[in-house]
Amino acid sequence: MKAQYFPAVGAILFGVAAALHGQGDAIALHIKADQVTAKVNPAFYGLMTEEINYSYDGGLYGELVRNRNFKEDAKEPVHWQLIQEAGGVGSMALDATQPLNDAAPASLKLTISQASGNARVGAANEGFWGIPVKPGTSYKVSIYAKAAESAGPVTVSLVSNDGATTKATAQIARVGNTWTKYDVKLTAAAGAKASADNKLVLSVSKPGTIWFGFVSLFPPTFKNRANGNRPDIMQLLADMKPGFLRFPGGNYLEGNTIQTRFDWKKTIGDVSQRPGHMDDAWKYWSSDGMGLLDFLDWCEDLNMQPLLAVYAGYSLRQERVKFGPDLDPYVKDALDEIEYVTGDASTTWGARRAKDGHPAPFKLEYVEIGNEDNFDREQGSYEGRFAQIFDAIKAKYPQLKLIATTPIKNRVPDVIDEHYYRRSEEEMASHAHDYDMRPRAGPKVFVGEWATRVGSPTPNMGAALGDAAWMAGMERNADLVIMEAYAPLLVNVNPGGMQWMTDLIGYNTTSSYGSPAYYAQQMFSTHHGDNVLAISEQGVPTREWTPPAGRGAAGQPPRTPMPQQVPLLFFNATRDSKTGTIYVKVVNRAATAQTVHLAISGLTSVQPGGKITTMAASSPDDTNSITEPKKVAPVTSNVNGLGPNFTRDFPPYSISVLELTSK
Ligand code: AHR
Repeated sequence: MKAQYFPAVGAILFGVAAALHGQGDAIALHIKADQVTAKVNPAFYGLMTEEINYSYDGGLYGELVRNRNFKEDAKEPVHWQLIQEAGGVGSMALDATQPLNDAAPASLKLTISQASGNARVGAANEGFWGIPVKPGTSYKVSIYAKAAESAGPVTVSLVSNDGATTKATAQIARVGNTWTKYDVKLTAAAGAKASADNKLVLSVSKPGTIWFGFVSLFPPTFKNRANGNRPDIMQLLADMKPGFLRFPGGNYLEGNTIQTRFDWKKTIGDVSQRPGHMDDAWKYWSSDGMGLLDFLDWCEDLNMQPLLAVYAGYSLRQERVKFGPDLDPYVKDALDEIEYVTGDASTTWGARRAKDGHPAPFKLEYVEIGNEDNFDREQGSYEGRFAQIFDAIKAKYPQLKLIATTPIKNRVPDVIDEHYYRRSEEEMASHAHDYDMRPRAGPKVFVGEWATRVGSPTPNMGAALGDAAWMAGMERNADLVIMEAYAPLLVNVNPGGMQWMTDLIGYNTTSSYGSPAYYAQQMFSTHHGDNVLAISEQGVPTREWTPPAGRGAAGQPPRTPMPQQVPLLFFNATRDSKTGTIYVKVVNRAATAQTVHLAISGLTSVQPGGKITTMAASSPDDTNSITEPKKVAPVTSNVNGLGPNFTRDFPPYSISVLELTSK
């Protein structure tokens, strides 16, 4: 058990707090600035990501064309429509006799039987819930096409869905009779209205036959990266100052079957050569435009370290690879993957990464072996698979820290990944002191997925309060918990976009917003300091809560729920050893303002002036949305009257970070 945190007996240990409490019913907090109980990993707060809720395709990944290689459906060119305008006559179908390459088995054949002048025939892509067009913005179009004989010109346009307005247009003068890549630029007029109700149209006005093998449309991306990401969502992520990115899953890593796992070797190189795959864990097509190198570029763009999860031979529908010789090819894949990330150009896969556009190796510290392997119902399966992969990685890369997804006995993992999805604010808050009580023997903990699941599509303020209580607990125990990531991170809030409710950041085709839980994360991740200070509290009010019935431990009869008292306030204090700034986090879940006496000992001085960042709501149900993106958001202001002993009121339903300047 951690020795430095004693909420129940704090007053006995810390006389100042006891003295303050004696002044009335006030809540007393005592911070011992000369007692550092843990060091905070600089990369403590990070991101967990996978292809869920249209996180990449139709989300972060910039591509605007849906089904760009015509592989999403074997029979129909889904998300494409035939255009026949002003008397133009033609047809459109998948054609397996003319594939562009081995990545996709068919191309889109456009037969123009009758066309001239304004009488046009074409193919239109609907995008992901429309194609966003912004005034004065340029878009890059790349098309692989060929004609039966020479054809053209092909007009490439962004057109409003009702067909009434052409927002941008360009031409490919001529398409020859061999597969060729054509690049065009589309620029929307400065005065055009921003909207999502648009389609991309490829049309011709002369009879003939044209095949399209791959069609891509990119808006400007974050840092102008080729094959890059949507700037508004990247900016929300950048504002969190995340330390790491765990990828590529989650269930998406495993797939429902071995066949549909994240097979990283099929996700690198030229996007027109990537086959894509069915993300059957979340039931939609993945273009794999967000491939292994793209995840790493994302890390580089946000100055995060990659936390790479390798496939470990288990898929969700209880498909597994037997450890031993059967697993050897997957072990090799994992080693190759690590080499792709970290190897220099003298290595096979380092050279491949250099060829793919990134000569410099990436730094890698953590590799996770699998995901949630506690769901593998075969006795001993993960023990065997983990040991085989662990031994192979440690033999080649002894410096890497390896993460197990569930406790194991036959090896000592460096870290265990624990996941906690809680169904209510009360439930999350009731666990906020769990790590204070956890024995310290054993591996460090990575809380790789967690959330208070209240609110849909994105969490509300009540969820954020549960989250903040939980985060204060993780941070207080930073000697044991070395990293954390909320999950899921992203959700497309358009109808049908969400597979998993309560996601940190929401967006539609044109805009995005952070939930209250997003801002809680941001408040913690941008104010974490590097030293956790000893803290005690007294007089914290509680609220009675009875856990839901019928949730017993595995193999046990349902437990009879017993009412329990759950604290209404939660705290943590950290210090930045370079600047001397002390960060005091206060979470007030109560419906009324709470007065807290703060006593800080072990310092020469605490300046009277400081800062406070507070996020407060009038109800736990308050939330953010596309139309009210900042209904609940933090506000920073200067404060006075601080010192080694002071009293402050914390508003109802609030999360606060006090910044004290100390010597
Ligand atoms: O975050 C959603 C899912 O929850 C993840 O894919 C999986 O790891 C967990 O069960």
